[in-house]
Amino acid sequence: MAKKQQTIGVLTSGGDAPGMNAAIRAVVRTACDLGHKVKGIKRGFTGLLEEDFIDMDAMSVSDIISRGGTILYTSRCAEFRTEEGQQLAAENCRKHGIDGVVVIGGDGSFKGAEALADHGVRTIAVPGTIDLDIACTEYTIGFDTAINTAMEAADKLRDTSGSHERCNVIEVMGRTAGHIALWCSIANGSEYVLLPETYCEEEMEKLIEKVKSKHKIGKKHHIIVNAEGVGDSFEIAKHIQEETGIETRATVIGHIQRGGSPTCRDRVYASALGSRAVDLLDQGQTSRVVAYRNGQFTDYSIAEALSMNKTINHNFDQLIHKLSR
Ligand code: F6P
Repeated sequence: MAKKQQTIGVLTSGGDAPGMNAAIRAVVRTACDLGHKVKGIKRGFTGLLEEDFIDMDAMSVSDIISRGGTILYTSRCAEFRTEEGQQLAAENCRKHGIDGVVVIGGDGSFKGAEALADHGVRTIAVPGTIDLDIACTEYTIGFDTAINTAMEAADKLRDTSGSHERCNVIEVMGRTAGHIALWCSIANGSEYVLLPETYCEEEMEKLIEKVKSKHKIGKKHHIIVNAEGVGDSFEIAKHIQEETGIETRATVIGHIQRGGSPTCRDRVYASALGSRAVDLLDQGQTSRVVAYRNGQFTDYSIAEALSMNKTINHNFDQLIHKLSR
């Protein structure tokens, strides 16, 4: 017997991430290929509440794979976190014949996807965040582009840091996670990295000692990577300057890390994850997260994914200390 045609909704939620457009494209094209209809939901869960929907077909996602941002727009929706908001969203899905929704976003969006599933609308979550802070997956959409953007910015800061014989504190994003900082620290050959996961009282003393000892043996300039979750980079820079006597500047790379054309890896993995999400809806599944783990694309229940804990890669942390001589 032929499978019933479904109407699949797709939305992006939370902070945008390069590669989200590749995921949207994969959702739309896979759904069309399987004979389903697609509705784009604008501005994340806000669009679900406001019935801000557009019909999408294979052609409506042409020429977007190389573009940063999200063509569907995004938001963080407080109203959707309430029971009334979730009921209204589910009612709106039924009213517009939406059988299932692909939710592309971070772990906050996963909670939204789980809530919508609990209200009777099938959902599949796709990990989309530059922060890489989702435990069930070793890859999240946008991380690769973000670390390359941050790395290039830090390379430029190294030039000016060297010319002026300064110390530079470079702040990268990541919310409460240090994955971006860790990767940039290795890639930029920084002397020290401050990570929220390992930060302790004595850390600043260790940092100062390191800068001083390097300075003593003739190092002309110093690069410190600070993850935003640790604290104010300007305060840290001021402290370093006061304690070491070395002129110190702080630079917050900021939202530049969220933009730009996605890297090849972000385009390819986002495409694979978006396509798999539709396959799961096609099979009648719900409340699952697609993921990449141990070299394979896979999926977990959202509940299981949200109960997992993510730590930083301690081998990488040790590598920084080993290599920054
Ligand atoms: O989660 C992605 C992220 O860019 C974090 O790294 C950062 O802390 C946060 O979003 C910034 O959010 P906003 O765009 O609301 O300033």
